Amino acid sequence: MWDQRYAVDEYIYGIEPNSFLAEHAEMLSGPVLSLAEGEGRNGVFLASLGLKVHGVDGSNVGLAKACALARSRGVEIQTEVADLGVFEPAANYYGSVVSIFAHLPSAIREKLYPLVEWCLKPGGIILLEAYSEDQLTRDTGGPKDANMLMTRAKIEREFPNCEPILLRELEREVCEGTYHTGVASVVQFIGTKKA
Ligand SMILES: C[S@@+](CC[C@H](N)C(=O)[O-])C[C@H]1O[C@@H](n2cnc3c(N)ncnc32)[C@H](O)[C@@H]1O
Repeated sequence: MWDQRYAVDEYIYGIEPNSFLAEHAEMLSGPVLSLAEGEGRNGVFLASLGLKVHGVDGSNVGLAKACALARSRGVEIQTEVADLGVFEPAANYYGSVVSIFAHLPSAIREKLYPLVEWCLKPGGIILLEAYSEDQLTRDTGGPKDANMLMTRAKIEREFPNCEPILLRELEREVCEGTYHTGVASVVQFIGTKKA
């Protein structure tokens, strides 16, 4: 599905970074693991700040566009085509993990999120934005499946070893490409791995 969606010249989520990420990027340190990197807008932005970026996504087509975007901006990102349901990151390696609109079923999150905590260095940062369950009633983006949408309670339960620095549900105007446009209900989370 994602390969098909990405198989157009246009960058369907745009080439500018997610705005929540851009606002808080100064809190991040490298290496950065970017989950569901897609067409590269977020990883390329972080690389342009001088951070080492490892972008993982299931779509070969998306990551090829990510590499092309990186080349056009004169930066490098490391990409890996992988299913996040079986992805195994290195322990205590990353300064930050970024997850932007990486909507995954709970069965995958149950395996992946403990590994996210495990792959962060102590004091490392997880930064996540996702559509919330309130988004189900809107047509401005995100999956139509509550299981793949987030809430504050899910974040607190699924990241028990990360201390929240910021955790909120809000409505905001999202203008990030063809599929993410309009007022949306989102969850935003920045947490730090407990020592
Ligand atoms: C809505 S897009 C977001 C892309 C990017 N984070 C952004 O904000 O532009 C969701 C991404 O999740 C990826 N994805 C979904 N399920 C996945 C899985 N099980 N393993 C790896 N990637 C997955 C898709 O390939 C797609 O690139």
